[in-house]
Order: sequence, then C-alpha cells, then structure tokens
Amino acid sequence: MTKPSIVDVPTATDGPANAIDVTDSRTGQTHKLPITDGAIRAADLKKIKTADEDDPGLLSYDPAFLNTASCRSSITFIDGDKGILRYRGYPIEQLAESSSFLEVAWLLRKGELPNQQEYDQFVHDITYHTYVHENMRKFLEGFRYDAHPMAMLNSSVAALASFYPRSRNIFDERERDISIIRLLAKVPTIAAFCYRHLKGLPFVYPDNGLSYVDNFLSMVARMTEPRYEANPIFSRALEVLFILHADHEQNCSTSAVRAVGSSHVDPFSAMSAGIAALFGPLHGGANEQVLRMIEEIGHVKNVPQFIEGVKGGKGKLMGFGHRVYKSYDPRATIVKELADEVFKVVGVDRDLEIALELERIALSDDYFKSRKLYPNVDFYTGLIYRSMAFPTEFFTVLFAIARTAGWLSQWEEMLLDKEQKIARPRQVYTGYDERAYRRQIKL
Ligand code: SDX
Repeated sequence: MTKPSIVDVPTATDGPANAIDVTDSRTGQTHKLPITDGAIRAADLKKIKTADEDDPGLLSYDPAFLNTASCRSSITFIDGDKGILRYRGYPIEQLAESSSFLEVAWLLRKGELPNQQEYDQFVHDITYHTYVHENMRKFLEGFRYDAHPMAMLNSSVAALASFYPRSRNIFDERERDISIIRLLAKVPTIAAFCYRHLKGLPFVYPDNGLSYVDNFLSMVARMTEPRYEANPIFSRALEVLFILHADHEQNCSTSAVRAVGSSHVDPFSAMSAGIAALFGPLHGGANEQVLRMIEEIGHVKNVPQFIEGVKGGKGKLMGFGHRVYKSYDPRATIVKELADEVFKVVGVDRDLEIALELERIALSDDYFKSRKLYPNVDFYTGLIYRSMAFPTEFFTVLFAIARTAGWLSQWEEMLLDKEQKIARPRQVYTGYDERAYRRQIKL
C-alpha cells in the first residue's frame, strides 16, 4: 500500500536571489526575508524589532487568512484566475468525465490512481463497513422530527469517536486506514438514516450488492421493493457531484479539520468540526440558500428587482462569488451541463429558468463583474438535488458525504507533515492595559 506523500520540509529558498529586503523605518535596519515557493515565512518577521528590548518582533496580521498559507499541500491545486482545479494533478473535468468517487477518494489520499487490486480491495473494504452500530439508530431516533440533518450528521460523526477508541492511535497507519474506511463507508449510511428520520420512514440498511452511490440512493429511497433500482441518470449525476465536491484545498471546513486535528484528536472528532463549518450559509450551506433564494424570487419576472436589491446591499446572490475563483468556478460549468442532462429527464422547471436568468443578468452587470462574482459550485447543485427529490435542508449533507474524502486526506497530510504542530494563531491585542480590580456589585 503506497504511503501518502509526506510533505517535504523545504530546506533551501528559491535561490539566494529570491528574497525581499525590508527596511524598518523605525530603526533604519534592512532585513533580508528569504522567499520559498513564492512565500515568506511569517516567523521570519519576528526578527524585525525596534531598539526596545521588550519588543517581541513583528507579527503578520491577516484576518480570515486572505493571504496566508497555513500549510504546504500536494493534494489539490486551484488557479482562481484561470478557473483551474486539479486533484493530484488530474484536471477536475477529466475526473468528472471518467472516474468514480471511490477512485477519486483513493487518489486524494494516496496521491496516485489505484491499480485494479488496490481499487477492488478498497471498494470491498468500504462496502463491508457501511453498517453502523445499532445504538447509532437509537441515537438518531432521539432527534426531533424537524431536526436539521446537518446537525444530526455532525453529532453522529462526533459520536462515532465513542465507538472506536483505538482511532485515537492516529500515528498507527493501520488505525488511520480503518478510520478513513469507516468514515467513507458510514457517513452515507448515517446521512440516509437522517433523511429517513426526517421523512418519518423506517431506516433502510445498506445493500452490499450495490455500488457506493446506488447503495446510498437505496438507503434513501427504497420502500417495499426487494432491491432498489436507481435511475442511471441520477446515479451518474450524484457520482459526478461527489467527485466535484470531494476536495478544494484549504477551504473553511478543511481548515477547521486541520486545526482541530492538529491537537491530535481522533479523526471522527476532527471531521465533525469540518461538518460544523460546512453547515454555514457562506460555505457548504450555500446550496440550500440558493434554492431558498430562488423560491423567494418566485418567478423569472421578479429577477431584475431581486438583482437590484442585492446591488443595493439587500443580501447576497447566493451561489455566486468565491474567495479564490475570480472567474467561473470550473465545477459550476460541469454542474450546469449535468443540470441540463437531468432536466431533460425531469423537465425544465420554473426554478431552473429563474437560475438561468439570475446568471444571465449577473454576468452582464458591472456590480458583479467588478467584484469578479461568478457562479460557484453551489449555484446549480441544489437544482439537481431538488430534481432528485432531496429536501432543501439535505443538500449540504450531500456535500459533506463527498467532502469526507478531502477532509480525511488533508487531515492525514497535516499529521504527516513534519512542519506542522498544534494550530495556535497569535493576535493583535486591542484591549485595556493593566487596571486595578474594584468590584461594583455584591457577590
Ligand atoms: C463554497 O473556499 C472554498 O473553496 C469553498 C468551496 C469549497 O469547495 O470548499 O468552494 C465551497 O463554500 C462555495 C461558496 C459558497 N458560498 C456562497 O455562494 C455564498 C455567497 N457568496 C459570498 O458569501 C462570498 O462570495 C464568499 C463567502 C463565497 C466569498 O467571500 P469573500 O471572498 O470574503 O469576499 P467578500 O465577502 O469580501 O466580497 C467581496 C465583495 C463585497 O462587496 P463590497 O463590500 O466590496 O462592496 O463582493 C461582495 C461583497 O459584499 N459579494 C457579494 C457576493 N459575494 C461577495 N455580493 C453579492 N452576492 C454575493 N454572493
């Protein structure tokens, strides 16, 4: 079994010429900061001090990490200006066209495509770990009928840590292997159980005779038939959507998994932090918000007025904009083509017309163009999920199933990276200086 690539610690800079000379106007001193892979080390700023012997040295200040690399990674490459996304060097378009989610999950973690024996063993292992402990069923039954499925999924994945205490041996590769297999295998089962709970339907147990995606669809949709037959259009659409959502370098939820994982907690607990971050409407929760926005617009004739409202500061055009992509999100292009195929089967509906009109107007309006706001992966995915009869609040759960592969690959890369240690950022203190305590109340 090939070891995941350990991120090599850079020993030399990009050459002696690659450095910046920083002159401190407070002291007149000039400091040479080496440049490695297009970055300076924030720690090098500490040597820039005033004459005051108590001066701790300079910090870098970067709220929301707009221009700060938290790690070195070889998993996913994004070029936001060119709209490029590659997993381990393979263009997302080619993987979406020809790969499977489990092949991509292997690739993300191992760095290379699996050979047939590796792939068959991986599929076997995932297939035979899809069941969850019966206590998980009782745990899920404890939620209200209208609980949000992301809250249920987050709690359930965190609860899995209580079933597998040996998963805390995170530096034992065999324990990491089985934990990663358990999460890839059981998250779809738990997600489907959440769906059935919301519908008031009995849970459907895994069918090990089906593919990863078809088994998930069976656990979601099977009723009294002996074996569920997935619509091949929906099955392929979901496979592609899982591939597209599998990883995306250091996004908010992956950063959460890396930060929590850096305390050396088990992977179940680290991943539940990622699910929590993904739940947010600015991140994975956006696909749910896109549908709610479209429902609020109600008719294509209301689109111009809605756009004017956004431009006037009344809310955001959900599914548009991205921290990294300042051009079209390459995943959105693929999802839009997928939507066309799905809607040929289910028929073009009013909501797709609204989405297409939103995009048409936004892409020609200077407010959005000047801010480089283009459709992101979430803009069209909700329309496909809705056409597959998934409820709006379930869309982000589907995102989480796919991102499990990326979160765990990034988690392991962080653990094996010799430069990494517990994440503990600094701050620029803006509070009071020392002052004497004088109580004003009676305790
Ligand atoms: C995902 O990081 C990832 O990789 C995430 C992700 C992944 O795969 O993991 O790609 C998945 O989360 C996709 C993004 C889904 N979120 C949404 O669709 C929500 C709507 N989008 C925005 O909230 C926003 O675009 C973000 C959060 C995605 C990015 O925000 P940034 O980079 O912090 O940009 P910003 O908020 O500073 O916006 C810059 C300007 C602002 O206007 P001004 O203050 O300069 O006048 O653009 C405006 C913003 O108000 N703006 C929008 C807008 N997004 C930004 N205006 C209207 N509609 C929007 N959607």
